[in-house]
Amino acid sequence: MSLLDTFDRYPLTFGKTAIEHLPRLTEAVGAGVGFYAKRDDCNSGLAFGGNKLRKLEYIVPDAIASGADTLVSIGGVQSNHTRMVAATAAKIGMKCVVIQEKWVPHYDAVYDRVGNIMLTRLMGADSRLVDDGFDIGIRKSWEDAIKSVEDAGGKPYPIPAGASVHKYGALGYVGFAEEVAEQEAELGFTFDYIVVCVVTGSTQAGMIVGFAAQDRADRVIGIDASCTVDQTRDQVRSIVDNTADLVGLGRKVREDEIHINPDYAYPAYGVPSEETNDAIRLAARTEAMMTDPVYEGKSMQGMIDLARKGFFPKGSKVLYAHLGGAPALNGYSYYYKDG
Ligand SMILES: Cc1ncc(COP(=O)(O)O)c(C=O)c1O
Repeated sequence: MSLLDTFDRYPLTFGKTAIEHLPRLTEAVGAGVGFYAKRDDCNSGLAFGGNKLRKLEYIVPDAIASGADTLVSIGGVQSNHTRMVAATAAKIGMKCVVIQEKWVPHYDAVYDRVGNIMLTRLMGADSRLVDDGFDIGIRKSWEDAIKSVEDAGGKPYPIPAGASVHKYGALGYVGFAEEVAEQEAELGFTFDYIVVCVVTGSTQAGMIVGFAAQDRADRVIGIDASCTVDQTRDQVRSIVDNTADLVGLGRKVREDEIHINPDYAYPAYGVPSEETNDAIRLAARTEAMMTDPVYEGKSMQGMIDLARKGFFPKGSKVLYAHLGGAPALNGYSYYYKDG
């Protein structure tokens, strides 16, 4: 039985995502810890896929039922989320307005032309650049965009940043936890830890609720990439509580089941450190697994560093949740001009 049996799901993904062993990364890190990746970055044919599609599968039925004709959302200039909302709108035949705020102090000459934002524009979304800085909360620019659709006679369906504080935003990642348990039964072993990048919160929050039903939510290691970890932690806590109620978990998730490590988000949201770039290169050179400088490179860095520091006991099997994001690499080409 699934916690999600009573919820409608509109398929946007291929189905279960692959779990891949990472033997060369395991060997290169050399910490006696086995690395695996669950490839949510390859979960769909829609515009390169990623974690947001798992979330949006549970949001689209509500959007369609509302009679809306326009999805309205928000993110940074190189937002994966707005790319995925634009993809979803194209696929279900709705219009799309996305606000792209200046969340990142990064000045690559083509930052607002390539990667995610280019794909978003190609899919026909009305992408509006706004000068405001990083904040995962509800933004005025987004509220103004919703109103602008109404003023033009349209019917907006609002989707907040990262689809996170949406009522159904975390359901998809409750499903992730159930999927991992099914795949473990097929593999014949279980994972000791799951490593996941966290910013707006509903990916990790959904996992926590799903794994809490299996009594192992404390094994979900969130690696913060927001660099505003207190706000992210509060948001995860509240999404966990709302989602646990919504799916009928039947108990409150304890504080010690919410694990978020703040150590790898420096120097700022969207800006990679030298160590982040080293981790990106290592995953690329050992496994041809592409991670990005905003999100997945930071959780990759965290996983490698925690393994080297002995955080995971020797012999542990660690599952890296790869959430997507590689299109953003195009906006950071200067860092990688020599590889
Ligand atoms: C590639 C990628 N990884 C991780 C995250 C973080 O997920 P969440 O915002 O649900 O915490 C995001 C989105 O913000 C993302 O696009």
